[in-house]
Amino acid sequence: MNIRAYLDTDLAAVVELFAASIHELAVHDYDAAQRAAWAPAAPDLAEWSQRLSGQTTLVADAGAGLAGFIACSHDGHIDLLYTSPRHARRGVASALYRAAEQHLRGIGVTEFVTEASLVAAPFFARQGFRVEEEQRVVRRDIEFRRYRMKKTAP
Ligand SMILES: CC(C)(COP(=O)(O)OP(=O)(O)OC[C@H]1O[C@@H](n2cnc3c(N)ncnc32)[C@H](O)[C@@H]1OP(=O)(O)O)[C@@H](O)C(=O)NCCC(=O)NCCS
Repeated sequence: MNIRAYLDTDLAAVVELFAASIHELAVHDYDAAQRAAWAPAAPDLAEWSQRLSGQTTLVADAGAGLAGFIACSHDGHIDLLYTSPRHARRGVASALYRAAEQHLRGIGVTEFVTEASLVAAPFFARQGFRVEEEQRVVRRDIEFRRYRMKKTAP
């Protein structure tokens, strides 16, 4: 598995992975209506392209396809982190997060923040993040619970 920078040609694969990840890996934490609101059947590719190319986006390239991706911004915000269901619990998100944190530390960032889903909270805790607050947010008229989490570099 190769961690590399996102390319425009990855767009369709990233958006597909995002939906598969939510519909399979988040099935125990969010109900069908929540998952449909989080990953709608007809994603807006132009909006996705802007979001991915406007940040530092890395993909885990498994050769035969993508195993995961992460997007973060220069203020230390981890915006997106998704692993493909076929590659779950094999260290893909850990490798992506390590590469992103290394990149951010390289440009002087010392605080990392994210809004973690209920699925991702144990993962971020394992990376040294602590819960700052539980949040309830509304997306496409559906309410979601999530955690704002933060890590301060030693
Ligand atoms: C959260 C997510 C990115 C983790 O990806 P992953 O590649 O499976 O994670 P890793 O294999 O690197 O996990 C590293 C460690 O994190 C913890 N962890 C990861 N997923 C976990 C889960 N579902 N439950 C509990 N702990 C978990 C474990 O300690 C794990 O180590 P272990 O497998 O040796 O026990 C993935 O489950 C996912 O894409 N979820 C759905 C989408 C989502 O919620 N994304 C985050 C949006 S904020």
